Amino acid sequence: MSEFVRLEVEDGIGTIRLDRPPMNALNAAVQEGLAAAATEATMREDVFAVIVYGGEKVFAAGADIKEMEAMSYAQMARHSAMLQDFTRALARIPKPTLAAITGYALGGGCEVALSCDFRIAGANAKLGQPEISLGIIPGAGGTQRLARLVGPARAKDLVFSGRFIDADEALAIGLIDAVVPDDEVYAAARKRLARYVGGPALAIKAAKEAIDKGLEVDLETGLEIERMAFASLFATEDKAIGMGAFVAKQKPSFVGR
Ligand code: CAA
Repeated sequence: MSEFVRLEVEDGIGTIRLDRPPMNALNAAVQEGLAAAATEATMREDVFAVIVYGGEKVFAAGADIKEMEAMSYAQMARHSAMLQDFTRALARIPKPTLAAITGYALGGGCEVALSCDFRIAGANAKLGQPEISLGIIPGAGGTQRLARLVGPARAKDLVFSGRFIDADEALAIGLIDAVVPDDEVYAAARKRLARYVGGPALAIKAAKEAIDKGLEVDLETGLEIERMAFASLFATEDKAIGMGAFVAKQKPSFVGR
């Protein structure tokens, strides 16, 4: 496990914990750690859902500017693929994922949050894509995922201006799903994901893939993705368990197979 990122598993929920004080700046080691934690969370059968959490004070203030300052075009041309790879690894976890945001979620930090299915933030959280102030643009998926989530005009406002927005504005534009008191962020995240523990893992995986892959393609192709995924679930034990329980008027006990 990485020095700065660890996967903690409790009661079926995996928490990918960023731990690089003071700001959880995402240097190359953190980026590698996030990708590794995403792979571990993907593989572990005892993990039904995943929280990404930076602790009580800060989510992440972005890629490590001090590390990037020294980088040339040639170096970043090589490294930029990895910047997208770690957020892609998070986005591809085939389980419900949620960013539990305290304090700042800026730049690469906001992009980590955008790679999750859901976002809950503390009342004093600040989000934004301030890269423009550094003379660059978001490079860990921000221009793409932000625009897909909140629409192009709002994404352009945030990316062109680099301004920070508070939790209420983030909620109003759909960048986050809920605002809670700062000290309740992690508990609220666990409560929100607890419903998936012991659920039909293959059906949830299929639902996530169909929605995410379908958004990248035209409607007919998306419908075909859905059709194949839907039919494939009829090969699972969980389908037999779920429908059998309904007919017998019982609660299903899914097995994830
Ligand atoms: N990279 C490296 N170090 C950072 C950092 C970052 N992204 N953000 C903060 N730090 C460091 C500061 O340099 C400072 O270090 P020192 O104590 O050694 O001086 C320490 O963390 C505390 O920060 P501040 O003193 O600045 O704390 P503050 O409370 O006054 O301000 C802040 C907090 C508003 C988050 C401010 O630090 C800030 O604006 N940070 C940069 C945010 C940013 O621009 N993020 C985008 C990065 S680029 C990117 O992410 C590219 C991409 O798309 C992948």
